[in-house]
This record gives sequence, structure tokens and C-alpha cells, in this order.
Amino acid sequence: MRAIVASFAFFASLLLSPAIAVADGFDDVFAIMSLPSGGDSPGCSGCHIAKGFAEPCPLFGTTQWGETQDGVLDCLTRRGYLDGGRDGTLAQVLGLVDGLPPRMPRFADLGDGRFWNQDELDVLGAWLDSLACP
Ligand code: HEC
Repeated sequence: MRAIVASFAFFASLLLSPAIAVADGFDDVFAIMSLPSGGDSPGCSGCHIAKGFAEPCPLFGTTQWGETQDGVLDCLTRRGYLDGGRDGTLAQVLGLVDGLPPRMPRFADLGDGRFWNQDELDVLGAWLDSLACP
């Protein structure tokens, strides 16, 4: 009986631990994303995140991701932006991938909004790494 309980706990922890890691690490990334956009701010608010944006987000036809942290994480996941981790779409557009210039926040290259600095990209990279299978 003890062995059965132990093995159940082992498999349950395999199933549960990635979900817990996702929820924890995203706090820091969401803190940056939910900053305002434009000016000298690196956030995605207004364009992708705002009060009233539908949750769960539609998969196509809109750039709106949602209004809450959980809704945004769900949207990024279902749209596949996190697939590939450090090489995935989210990493690419923010400038984490060598050789690919950042293209989000949109208009940051025109001086409205600011691309993520190295500290912010490190936070993103650490979180994306934590999503990968051990
Ligand atoms: C000023 C508005 C604006 C801001 C601010 C902005 N975006 Fe975007 N974003 C867009 C638009 C419009 C598109 C769709 C067109 C495109 O891909 O260029 C888009 C597309 C994307 C995509 C999908 C790319 C693809 O290839 O499918 C991602 C991922 C993304 N943005 C991430 C971000 C992140 C992360 C931030 C904040 C750090 C951000 N964006 C800030 C307007 C914005």
C-alpha cells in the first residue's frame, strides 16, 4: 500500500509541477508586459492587454490577449507563442533570439515604447526555460 501511495504521489508531482512552475514564474514577466505601452515604457498594455479584452482570447482575428494575468498566460499558451521556449514566437519578437532584432513593443523602433533591456530579457529567458521539460 505504501508503495502505491508513493508512486501515486510521484506521478502526481510529475503532472502538477510544470503547471505550478508556469504560474509562479510568469508573475515577473507579466509585471513587465502589463506596464503601459508607448513613451519610454516597455509594456504591452493597450494593444494586447486591457480591461474588457475577451477571455479566453480568440485564437485569430485580434491582437487582444485578455485583461488578467491568467487570461493573458492562457492566451499566449493557446496561440503557441510559448512553443519553442527561448526560440519561440514570444522570445523572437522581444529580441531574445540572437540575430533577430526585436519587433515588439510595436513602434518602439520609432521611439514610442521601449524594447526590453537585458535585465528584462533575462527574466523572460529564465521563465521560458522553466517551461521546458526537465
Ligand atoms: C502599439 C501596439 C502594440 C504594442 C505596444 C505591442 N504590440 Fe505586439 N502586436 C501589435 C500588432 C498590431 C500585432 C500584429 C501585427 C504584427 O505581428 O506586427 C502584434 C503582434 C504581436 C505578436 C504576434 C507575432 C506573430 O508573429 O504572430 C506577439 C507575440 C506580440 N505582438 C508581442 C508583444 C509583446 C510581448 C508586447 C509588449 C512587450 C507587445 N507585443 C506590444 C501591436 C502591439
